[in-house]
Amino acid sequence: EIHPSAKEGSKAVAQEIAALIREKAAANQKCVLGMATGSTPKYLYAELVRLHKEEGLSFKNVITFNLDEYYPIEPDALQSYNRFMKEHLFNHIDIPEGQYHIPDGTIPKDQIKQYCADYDKRIEAVGGMDLQILGIGNNGHIGFNEPGSNINSHTRLVTLDNSTRLANAYEFPNMSQVPRLAITMGLSTIFKAQRVILMAWGSHKAKIVCRSVEGHSTDQVPASLLQQHSNCKFVIDEQASAEL
Ligand code: GLP
Repeated sequence: EIHPSAKEGSKAVAQEIAALIREKAAANQKCVLGMATGSTPKYLYAELVRLHKEEGLSFKNVITFNLDEYYPIEPDALQSYNRFMKEHLFNHIDIPEGQYHIPDGTIPKDQIKQYCADYDKRIEAVGGMDLQILGIGNNGHIGFNEPGSNINSHTRLVTLDNSTRLANAYEFPNMSQVPRLAITMGLSTIFKAQRVILMAWGSHKAKIVCRSVEGHSTDQVPASLLQQHSNCKFVIDEQASAEL
């Protein structure tokens, strides 16, 4: 789905999310959403906040699970995805505390395996995700599933690619402070979502969008594996569509 701009694309995705939340609320059901961070979903979250404040969209029946978090990192660090989600969304809507989940970057290393297994179990316990929102890294990563990630992978501790650390270095005082590790939902965790929407904006995403949509489905471009998902769409702006 190609929109003239990131703002218009984000508004369209926000409308889809609002419709899903309302449909579930009308049926007295929870709506389980997978959330992403990075610069890509900023307009989407701003629009969801606007829908809450101006159009009465309630998030009381919403449960969310975030894709990833740096490791190690304190939740109030400037670059933490915990902080990002609170600043951009959770502090401004009526989602009850305890209904949003973001991987914890402070878990002691010897407990991470169990913590990650429990994260997947918590998603399963609420019936799986109705909709997963994704961005895309320049190397095709989704969440922090870097090239080579197994399609059957679960939530786990991963080593970040150097290219990812470089791409995200702008968030940190210098490159040496970019964490080398992260906790990410696995590809199988993401694939279990009923629907997936990947968003990409800007000319710097044009090449990887093209490889993901028109190239072979390969673990060397994790987003291209989404070709195998039964209900996935890419919502992009004109600039990101330039190579299609
Ligand atoms: C980050 C995140 C991803 C995100 C991607 C793109 O490293 N882990 O979830 O989709 O890279 O980031 P941006 O949206 O800033 O382009």
